[in-house]
Amino acid sequence: VFSDDDSAEIERIKSGIAELDRVLGGGIVEGSVILLAGEPGIGKSTLLMQLCAHLGVSVMYVSGEESRGQLKMRADRLGAGGSDTLVLCETDMESVLSEYDRVSPKIMIVDSVQTMYSSSATGAPGSVGQVRECTSELIARAKQDNCAVIIVGHVNKEGGIAGPKVLEHMVDAVLYFEGDRSHTYRIVRAVKNRFGSTNEIGVFDMMEDGLREVPNPSEMLLSGRPLHAPGTCVACVMEGSRPVMAEIQALVARTSFNVPRRTTDGFDFNRANLLFAVLEKRGGLNIGMCDGYINVIGGLQLNEPAADLALVLAVASSYRDKPMDSDVTAIGEVGLTGEVRSVLALQQRLAEAARIGFKTCLIPRHGTGNVQIPDGLEVVRVRNIREAIEFALPV
Ligand code: TYD
Ligand code: MG
Repeated sequence: VFSDDDSAEIERIKSGIAELDRVLGGGIVEGSVILLAGEPGIGKSTLLMQLCAHLGVSVMYVSGEESRGQLKMRADRLGAGGSDTLVLCETDMESVLSEYDRVSPKIMIVDSVQTMYSSSATGAPGSVGQVRECTSELIARAKQDNCAVIIVGHVNKEGGIAGPKVLEHMVDAVLYFEGDRSHTYRIVRAVKNRFGSTNEIGVFDMMEDGLREVPNPSEMLLSGRPLHAPGTCVACVMEGSRPVMAEIQALVARTSFNVPRRTTDGFDFNRANLLFAVLEKRGGLNIGMCDGYINVIGGLQLNEPAADLALVLAVASSYRDKPMDSDVTAIGEVGLTGEVRSVLALQQRLAEAARIGFKTCLIPRHGTGNVQIPDGLEVVRVRNIREAIEFALPV
């Protein structure tokens, strides 16, 4: 039985950071509990301090990791020193909650949950029991007062024992902050969101003075791409509502093992193996006994069939040791008979390819009669992977 109240619109507080709002589904939902997880040093505290400076509502920032001096230094570096956020350096939950009651903010940030301690649980800070207890105390308060709580959780490379995994079912939204330590870009991804989709990603660049939003990630993901090198092809995937182009690299070599070795990073392993088999049987490439290493540059996860054709071409290019033209890209799903199949949102993907400056795009022949071709882009319609390889890697 629902009442009229139940259908009331959920109220969202705009974070003021468009890439973050995008991932959250339009803003921070009042009274919701958000877990922001990521490896130490990835930029969680930086993002949240920038958030404090952008928010137009009362915020209480609880830090259990840094002193006021350290926080001030970061805030100055970010140009966020002037924000009227209330900063509390505290690890004791009782003190945190009594200060919270005194201030009654609209948003509370707890950085990090692993440093917090509640006398209602046993164990040291960071233990499963403590992390759970502190989180549930925070959730109880959030729901009672309609205050949004953002909880920071560190994870290590292995996923972390008392880390965010044990909290995921307790909170409303789980955001993972990821990135490659050797690069400056960072991706925020929702793995759970009770108030929005989990398709969207937010992209940032870590600069000297904080995180800069990247509204058009393709350029960044393609920067530094090797031109005229064998074994690479650019794919276009939909990250939520936004087309994003990313480079797939393949290295194929005759195996010296009994069973060929295959690894993938950023591409589904089984899907890649299937495409190797299709290339062998339908593409005329003798790669059954070849090792294959696949890597998607930029930490993107290309879980979309539309990237199949680009993977196939990257593999074929490596196998033949012949580069593709660097202004050619490919969009299409590959079926078991080697046929190239149509994909969703082709129009948007083509527009992105044209915007980035690609001159030619291979697309499926079937089902693409009505698409409008953007100015400056030539499309080549292919029926199957043989035709695609013949065009992209002529002998
Ligand atoms: P931080 O936000 O402290 O990470 P986390 O809270 O996830 O542990 O970010 C730390 C790293 O980010 C550190 O290596 C320095 C770098 N950084 C910048 O490059 N630019 C900046 O403006 C700031 C504040 C940090
Ligand atoms: Mg931190």
